[in-house]
Amino acid sequence: MLRQGRGSGRPSIDAALLGAREDHWTVFKGLLPFVWPEGRPDLRRNVVVAFGLLLLAKLVTITIPIVFKWVTDALTAVSGETSASGPATLAVVVTMLVLAYGAGRMMSVVLNQIRDIYFTKVGQNAVRKLNTRTFEHLHKLSLRFHLERRTGGLSRVLERSARAIELIIRMGILNVVPTLIELVLICAVLFYYFDATFVLIVLATVTVYMWFTFKASEWRIGIRREMNDSDTDANTKAIDSLLNFETVKYFGNEALESRRFDSAMKRYEGAAIRTYSSLAYLNSGQAIIFTLGMILMMWMVARGVAAGTHTVGDFVMVNTMMIQLWMPLNFMGMVYREIKQGLVDIEVMFALLQQNPEVEDSPGAKPLKVTNGEIKFENVCFSYEEDRTILKDVSFDVPAGKMVAIVGPSGAGKSTISRILFRFYDIDSGRVTIDDQDIRDVTQLSLRSAIGVVPQDTVLFNDTIRYNISYGRPDATEEEVIAAAKLAQIDSFIRSMPQGYDTMVGERGLKLSGGEKQRVAIARTILKGPPILVLDEATSALDSHTEKEIQDALDKVAENRTTLVIAHRLSTIVHADKILVLEAGQVVEQGTHAELIAKKGLYESLWSRQRQAEKAREELAHALEEAERTGALPLGWKGPVDGVPGE
Ligand SMILES: Nc1ncnc2c1ncn2[C@@H]1O[C@H](COP(=O)(O)OP(=O)(O)OP(=O)(O)O)[C@@H](O)[C@H]1O
Ligand SMILES: [Mg+2]
Repeated sequence: MLRQGRGSGRPSIDAALLGAREDHWTVFKGLLPFVWPEGRPDLRRNVVVAFGLLLLAKLVTITIPIVFKWVTDALTAVSGETSASGPATLAVVVTMLVLAYGAGRMMSVVLNQIRDIYFTKVGQNAVRKLNTRTFEHLHKLSLRFHLERRTGGLSRVLERSARAIELIIRMGILNVVPTLIELVLICAVLFYYFDATFVLIVLATVTVYMWFTFKASEWRIGIRREMNDSDTDANTKAIDSLLNFETVKYFGNEALESRRFDSAMKRYEGAAIRTYSSLAYLNSGQAIIFTLGMILMMWMVARGVAAGTHTVGDFVMVNTMMIQLWMPLNFMGMVYREIKQGLVDIEVMFALLQQNPEVEDSPGAKPLKVTNGEIKFENVCFSYEEDRTILKDVSFDVPAGKMVAIVGPSGAGKSTISRILFRFYDIDSGRVTIDDQDIRDVTQLSLRSAIGVVPQDTVLFNDTIRYNISYGRPDATEEEVIAAAKLAQIDSFIRSMPQGYDTMVGERGLKLSGGEKQRVAIARTILKGPPILVLDEATSALDSHTEKEIQDALDKVAENRTTLVIAHRLSTIVHADKILVLEAGQVVEQGTHAELIAKKGLYESLWSRQRQAEKAREELAHALEEAERTGALPLGWKGPVDGVPGE
């Protein structure tokens, strides 16, 4: 379905988000370096301290039931009055033991809390590092990937993974190992006070318990996956629908949108319900298994107490110890569940990270050296999708410092040429060079910093006008920003707004008119000041008066810069050094305006059609002026003049 990008084995894009499932072990190994981070001795120290605290807490925990046993035995001794040392000493002993018991309980809680403080730094650092890496990676992936991918889904993946990473690191490291240690200690205590049968019962209970947990969790993973997929789906639909807010209203399709969203949510609802009901099953099973083991042991001790081989203290100790083990074990079941589910969440993120960028710097790529800025396209063939060629053997050159215009019908491939020059896509065959350097042999960063693009559709960041203009060169001074805005004819408009340069432009810049957005785009490209300029219908959204003024500004900017202009309105490019006529992906004519007119080909026919339309517009304007003068229309009424299409 998708072509293989140049020099990169590119897996299908959909596999990355919904299909591909990373194997858990790979994901786990991938996380390890983030928990034991290279070059961060402070974080490594935190890991060690957290582990030390954890061991200490476990040791304290295990002594609690033993102290409890001593207290109970001492108390039964008092009530039975079998002690030889007298009630006074006993009271002291019991008080001391009770105090020790209390201290132990408090210590074990406090130690765990301190441990958490230490470990949080490690966990949060890992979350930040991994998320930033994924974010950077997303920016490296091709335009193709992003056009096919849906932003709402991607942001959800990032969000879910962040949560999962924290959880896996915290639970995996702080629970699995300590629970095992506690289990070993308990077995030792049981063996010391009782015999091997007790050890066997504990081990058997824990084994069955874990087996059940693993099995049930495996079964629940599938449900969880479906829950995630439907969650991503619902979120994607919601974001897409809200981005198209205006379109939804134009067509009165709120009900349709709400149905679409609701059906995605319905799938989520079903999966979520099954997730919870399966959790109830899991929890009940765990409780039953563990309680059976505990009851068996307590029954055995109780028999021993009756027979006089065990004390009441022993009974209390076994009970306390088992209840104490139940907590981390129950936690461990949850840990396994959460880790498995976390891995499901993260695997999508890892699949994304494994996705090779389609356009990559070739090994040994050098920075582009722009000396004059001469652009050459040599026999370029290109297709977005396999079975539809967009550019067919396109050759032309833009001499250094000159202006070349590309004209032609809609869909001919004009914007595609600018995307190729910018290397959003690699071509199928042929060569594109700038000053004799193949653009595939230079770094993308240097290539892109040499080219300034005013795109056909300008999308702005949801920030201030100042931010959007200075995006062209973030370190520009205020004066430079204003100078660029002046050149782009937008300074006075900006100043007319109450907030001036601090005006927010709205999502995607939708609070500005098309022409204002276009001028902001021109200003930021002027600020960037690159040696090569690509203007893709840079003035198409402007009325003819403003267009003229900006045209002058753009001409000034284009002076001594190699410039590629894509235009619909031919009158704006008559003075270009060369005009290429592109039709269905082929250069059908090229030359200066005068040469092409003389040729009487496609260009000439486009030109005369536009001239006619323009003449009609002039006549209309003239007639309106007349009407105004004679009083048939109120003064200053200019409505439809700009509304006459240019073509
Ligand atoms: N990402 C894409 N994937 C597949 N096909 C695409 C993609 N982008 C553009 N096309 C197709 O390539 C062809 C050329 O598109 P291009 O944007 O270069 O046209 P254009 O000459 O700039 O047209 P216009 O004057 O309307 O802007 C169009 O038919 C379009 O459908
Ligand atoms: Mg275009």
